[in-house]
Amino acid sequence: ISILPTDYTIRPLRRSDYQRGYLDVLRVLTTVGEISEEQWNQRYDWIASRNDEYYMLVVCDGEDRIVGTGSLIVERKFIHSLGMVGHIEDIAVEKNQQGKKLGLRIIQALDFVAAQVGCYKSILDCSEPNEGFYVKCGFKRAGLEMAHYY
Ligand code: ACO
Repeated sequence: ISILPTDYTIRPLRRSDYQRGYLDVLRVLTTVGEISEEQWNQRYDWIASRNDEYYMLVVCDGEDRIVGTGSLIVERKFIHSLGMVGHIEDIAVEKNQQGKKLGLRIIQALDFVAAQVGCYKSILDCSEPNEGFYVKCGFKRAGLEMAHYY
């Protein structure tokens, strides 16, 4: 298990994390858009009400600023005897905090949750340049991503 730097913590996302720069961390990943606190609260409450399905983690530095995040969404299936699959999504580490094993720690924590809740596997989509990171995290290439944008 990867160890966080001294004073860093990993914990579930909180409603008050809007104020701690959560959305700015996601901006290293992709376009976030302008999200008001009211819109944040609405979406947060929806996610929080599904707390056996959505597991969203953040890493904070010593000043309680959010520097990394990642999510696990647990899908319930009929196949494989009512199997469950973990979907790892939206992994992001603030640019100047990359390379400190925070990403690895986030994936390990999400993997642990997935196994604990009974998922038989976790899967994710990533770009080619990120393949090496996920290989270091214990993942291997399987299949091919397809997308249909609307
Ligand atoms: N290619 C190859 N190896 C890599 C890469 C890479 N792109 N990135 C990190 N590694 C290696 C590190 O060198 C380290 O190896 P080591 O254990 O031998 O020293 C190991 O992977 C762990 O690296 P971390 O320090 O934990 O990585 P970091 O904290 O920088 O997080 C991340 C990696 C999340 C990809 C980060 O660079 C980032 O936020 N990038 C921008 C957003 C992004 O692309 N997110 C992933 C999208 S895919 C998805 O969300 C499912």
